[in-house]
Amino acid sequence: MAIVSSSEDPVYDNNFDAKKYLDMFYRIDPKTRQVDKESDFLFTFLNDAFSSGRVKHKSLIEIGAGPSIHHILPACEYFEKIYITDYLQSNLQEIEKWLRDSSDAFDWSPYIRYVCILQNTRTTPEESAEKIRRKVSLMKCDVTKTNPLHPNSLPLTNCLLTVACLTSACKSFKEFKTALKNIVSLIKPGGHLILSDYFKAIYYVVGETKFPLLSLNEDFVKEAVSESGCETEQFKTFTEIRKPEDLFESKEVFCLLARKL
Ligand SMILES: C[S@@+](CC[C@H](N)C(=O)[O-])C[C@H]1O[C@@H](n2cnc3c(N)ncnc32)[C@H](O)[C@@H]1O
Repeated sequence: MAIVSSSEDPVYDNNFDAKKYLDMFYRIDPKTRQVDKESDFLFTFLNDAFSSGRVKHKSLIEIGAGPSIHHILPACEYFEKIYITDYLQSNLQEIEKWLRDSSDAFDWSPYIRYVCILQNTRTTPEESAEKIRRKVSLMKCDVTKTNPLHPNSLPLTNCLLTVACLTSACKSFKEFKTALKNIVSLIKPGGHLILSDYFKAIYYVVGETKFPLLSLNEDFVKEAVSESGCETEQFKTFTEIRKPEDLFESKEVFCLLARKL
């Protein structure tokens, strides 16, 4: 495990409280310890993609992971190496706490247990956690840069995953298309993009701060993916979003798998 840092943290982080974000969007009811249906939708989509034989398993880069390891959990069983990236050093530090098994790290164990059951492996949640810790490295990224990993770089990857990042990082459709092209440049020809985000989202709230989101629609997303040089192979949506409306506004999440041509 290593943190590769780049430039100073820019504006976004002045207001983004990683702990509050995790508490608001990932905390599990301690009584039921039940994983929500939206997580199940994403985990199932990812697991189906990784186990389908289409996606090669050498390396995976997640772009804009925030302070969360949620989305790479189904990847751990398949990929040799996983790079988790975000714009904010403070988010990476929050993940690093979990990688170090620090006592004040967020508790991901209900999600890890859920993925172990979904994947029907013989691996215990504790073994799975150890595997994740061995495979993950952390790195800064900025999707607005031509090389989003600048000043670092990585060999082109087999698979790139990004969830709810571009709608935060981009203020217009034009910026979204440019950012998507930037991150697709990190994928090998024949490799895969997994993009998940929300339709018609307007904002999300962390603590006292409201973060604006770019409002997407299906036609635009498919056009942007095609213009980025990828061919969409799978597209699924899910509408049972249970996030409190005062914290987040969107009724539909999508996941797509696309192959870089
Ligand atoms: C709504 S959060 C989503 C975090 C995580 N993917 C999730 O689903 O919980 C948006 C994330 O986008 C990141 N972000 C904002 N601007 C960015 C940029 N220019 N490049 C990369 N990430 C950015 C933020 O740091 C934040 O972690």
